[in-house]
Amino acid sequence: MPNIKHIISVSSSKYILGDTLKELKKLKDHSVDMVFSDPPYNLQLSKTLYRPDSTKVSGVNDEWDKFNNFQDYDIFTKSWLSEVKRILKPEGSIWVIGSYHNIYRIGYALQNLDFWILNDIIWRKTNPMPNFKGTRFTNAHETLIWAANSKCSKYTFNYQTMKKLNDNKQMRSDDWLINVCGGQERLKDTNNQKLHNTQKPEELLLRVILSSTKPGDVVLDPFFGTGTTGVICKKLGRKFIGIEKNANYIKEAKKRILKVKKVKLEKITLLNKKSSKKINISSIL
Ligand SMILES: C[S@@+](CC[C@H](N)C(=O)[O-])C[C@H]1O[C@@H](n2cnc3c(N)ncnc32)[C@H](O)[C@@H]1O
Repeated sequence: MPNIKHIISVSSSKYILGDTLKELKKLKDHSVDMVFSDPPYNLQLSKTLYRPDSTKVSGVNDEWDKFNNFQDYDIFTKSWLSEVKRILKPEGSIWVIGSYHNIYRIGYALQNLDFWILNDIIWRKTNPMPNFKGTRFTNAHETLIWAANSKCSKYTFNYQTMKKLNDNKQMRSDDWLINVCGGQERLKDTNNQKLHNTQKPEELLLRVILSSTKPGDVVLDPFFGTGTTGVICKKLGRKFIGIEKNANYIKEAKKRILKVKKVKLEKITLLNKKSSKKINISSIL
């Protein structure tokens, strides 16, 4: 029986349809520069939520988000994170996004696997869903943990670029103010409904990829969804590997990424140059 382990090396971007726990095992040791991961949240939604006018709220009640209990979720988290640790270059870094439902469990697993947490960043939503029942504060943010592969990793951080995108002031971790994905950017299905419940905004991925990778780097996304990571990688001249188990999502992600054009070289050069010229983030998207 041939050993099919670790057969895939990366020379160009790749779409992989399948279960991430199986597919990650086929990727080579130390073959990617950065990982962006937007895993299931394990929201544990049991009841339908209604607005005050009795209309139904379209929440995240997808099958892919369902786990029997916290223990199952923790086993799942440890499995994919252990593989990612093996695949990531020693100088690489990982980003994981989550909400209060899962981010603490993920942070615990990252530290147990000897990743070295660099920042926890708040994505503050400009247009969050209200708390319809008035029983809690509005849940208005998600957290991104950014961690190096180990304590001694010489990870990439494009400090000057991020400063330039922030009115020439050091970019802070506590206030990435970005809209929830909507408008033209939001993919729709044939009934003109959201194609995916948790499509992330491109600006969020732009900040992540621009700050922590170099042109030509390979970014792995083990939960690719609609391919937002791929869109930004292509715009910025990075390669990507996207793993997704839903055939429709990956098909739509391919179509979406095919239409994307690389950002003009002059713009990227301007970003990397040490000058006091300010640049607006939206001008890159
Ligand atoms: C939170 S969403 C990612 C959304 C994505 N960042 C975007 O912008 O569209 C998580 C995705 O992981 C996929 N998924 C969940 N479990 C998986 C597994 N075991 N293997 C592969 N994909 C999985 C789901 O189908 C879903 O599309």
